[in-house]
Amino acid sequence: MKILFFTGKGGVGKSTMAAASAWQLSQKSRVLIVSLDPAHNLGDIFGTGIKHGKTKFTNTLYLNEVNLRELSKEYLQKEINVLSSTYRYLQVLNLDNYFSILKYSPGIEEYALLTSIEKTIRDEVDFDYIIFDTPPTGLTLRFLALPKVTITWINRLIGIRRQILEKRYTIHRIRGTLSSEETILDYKEEDDDILKRLWELSNNYQALDRTLCGSDCNVVLVFNPDILSLRESQRLIEGLDDLGLPLRLLVDNKVTEENEDMATYVEKQMKGMTQDIPLERIQLAKTLLDGRKGALYDVPESIIPDSW
Ligand SMILES: Nc1ncnc2c1ncn2[C@@H]1O[C@H](COP(=O)(O)OP(=O)(O)OP(=O)(O)O)[C@@H](O)[C@H]1O
Ligand SMILES: [Mg+2]
Repeated sequence: MKILFFTGKGGVGKSTMAAASAWQLSQKSRVLIVSLDPAHNLGDIFGTGIKHGKTKFTNTLYLNEVNLRELSKEYLQKEINVLSSTYRYLQVLNLDNYFSILKYSPGIEEYALLTSIEKTIRDEVDFDYIIFDTPPTGLTLRFLALPKVTITWINRLIGIRRQILEKRYTIHRIRGTLSSEETILDYKEEDDDILKRLWELSNNYQALDRTLCGSDCNVVLVFNPDILSLRESQRLIEGLDDLGLPLRLLVDNKVTEENEDMATYVEKQMKGMTQDIPLERIQLAKTLLDGRKGALYDVPESIIPDSW
């Protein structure tokens, strides 16, 4: 299974290019396209309604729009349940009372999005391609950075938990059980629920990070022939590079006769930063500007290289 992320500045045509690519790939393979953008327009692009989760569009193409608000709530409730069962004394605080405030905590949306990506990749193994249409750059880079950030924090927490266990061990010995034999601990590291949970989380995030940085993951960067789009794309390329995420296709979208010189300039700058990555130039399709339903069919049929 291959995974594609369409990224880029707001309004450059990520959703349109993701949808057109999904259509292209679905001519030969089974494709699921998932919109992660809180301001969805996938349904509008395909001229159909997407209601409860995954919706069949053709025999080989399924559409899904992630409900970020619901997802954040679910994510938070699940974490509160885990916290309450792991740290029973927290029940005194009754975290449920704070639920309405906690859902506004920084980072909740990013974690909820990442959880949804992980679940989709894990569950939807029947598809040959999963295409993620992402929100504008900032949020996308933040949630794609999360596995690495989280692994760092979890390792730190594992260290702290080990120190706590060692202190317990010391206290246990001070209390002393008068015995000539070696002191036997009443617990092992492997029996500690909290360490177990931390290891489990660490393994999950490492697996996800391997998937996102692996050979089956492809980040597509969409941009327009203008300077603002170029600057943001350059920042995005640096961000992807920092995170080890595989940028594999550049799409220069909305090119016209009037902006062709600018398109050539922007493409040259982008090529200079990315060396051998293929570049696809897409013309501004006049018919799309009608804003009529199902405008997808007016965009070019071939965006994704045949070798994918
Ligand atoms: N090649 C094209 N020709 C003509 N119009 C286009 C083309 N690509 C995109 N558009 C139009 O540009 C607008 C923005 O496109 P789209 O919604 O795909 O961008 P986006 O990057 O997903 O935006 P957002 O950041 O808001 O999610 C839409 O009205 C779309 O129809
Ligand atoms: Mg979009």
